[in-house]
Amino acid sequence: MSGVAGQASDGWWQSRLSPFVRGFDPSGYATVRDEMAAARAAGVDILPLKGSTIQALAPHVLEAVVAGAHTNMHGHARGLPELRAAISRKLSARNSIVADPEREILVTGGSKHALHMLLMTLLEPGDEVVFPTPAYTYWGSVRLAHGKPVAVLMREADGYRWDPEAIEAAVTPRTRVLLLCAPMIPTGYVPTAEDLLAMGEIAERHDLVIVMDEAHENLVFDGRRHVSAASLGALRERTVTLFSMTKAHNLTGYRIGYLVGNAALIDQVAKMVEWSVLLNPYLPQLAAKAVLEGPQDWLEDMIRLAERNRNVVSAALDELEGVSHVRPAGGMYHFINVRGTGLTDLELYRRLLREHGIPTEPGWISGEAGHLRLTALGSPEAVVDELAHRLRIAWQKL
Ligand SMILES: Cc1ncc(COP(=O)(O)O)c(C=O)c1O
Repeated sequence: MSGVAGQASDGWWQSRLSPFVRGFDPSGYATVRDEMAAARAAGVDILPLKGSTIQALAPHVLEAVVAGAHTNMHGHARGLPELRAAISRKLSARNSIVADPEREILVTGGSKHALHMLLMTLLEPGDEVVFPTPAYTYWGSVRLAHGKPVAVLMREADGYRWDPEAIEAAVTPRTRVLLLCAPMIPTGYVPTAEDLLAMGEIAERHDLVIVMDEAHENLVFDGRRHVSAASLGALRERTVTLFSMTKAHNLTGYRIGYLVGNAALIDQVAKMVEWSVLLNPYLPQLAAKAVLEGPQDWLEDMIRLAERNRNVVSAALDELEGVSHVRPAGGMYHFINVRGTGLTDLELYRRLLREHGIPTEPGWISGEAGHLRLTALGSPEAVVDELAHRLRIAWQKL
């Protein structure tokens, strides 16, 4: 029990940890962040790549936050009523979802927080959650709610389109939730109404809840339209949707999102929020309301930049030997098959970072080794042009 005077040692504290928590590795995100910090400390000139565009906040958003900072209020357990009203108007105008702001909308600390609270509410220990992969980091969220993640790999040859047969084959009597993401992260597949309806049929046959992650709803390219599952009559009743203001509405640092679904369910998730964080912070909610109610022209600028960057990166990747990818139709990533290079994703990720200052993520974090996840679409044009240049140089030296 000895350590710094009066303090217990790390070993003693480790013996106090619950086996459940000890069973978790650090998130892949944390590992990548630490390696990036180490490379930067070693003097590597790392390209400042970004996913969603982080633009300066509009003056009216800053004014709302500053005015709120003076009042120093606290919020409401479900989110400020005026924010929920603004969300309800946005859902009806942009997502064709009708949601009662009093009972069917819950504001959360980002959509990841929403997912955690929701899965805590839906799952009993050992319940299965089926989701198509490559995917966002759902494994940890499911396990944190004592559930069992069941990942179903989609194929590059199909453009990572959802495969209803493979997904249905993974359903067992323990499956409670079908967890879907649109646009798909990190593959950039944008599900159509037909894809969503096929998932609805599976959910109906097996009596599953559909959890839709629409964090990147605004990032769809080439004139496509994002379709919200809950806007499709057949799916509405069994769907609960996660939205993110940090991703889709440029409030990256504000950690705010919301959940939309059945009132009886939302009552229960709200209970979870109260028991965990009590209330969500006030100022991000003021920022969210201002963003939703203000001009939306920045969205078009964001998509134009992302499409342009997508084209530049895809063209550069097409030139590289041993590499293939599906041109993303949405989202903010390129998911790159690097098996033909003869290097593992971890080796290649480290070499690109340390030797060329190109930050990526090894594909295992998204559920498929042998790939890299590259996040670039929100970066300034010059940064993306430099990325294309560095990729060419890197491949000459492999
Ligand atoms: C698909 C997807 N869902 C959810 C999240 C979490 O977003 P938030 O910042 O709202 O917690 C992310 C973040 O990258 C994401 O890519």
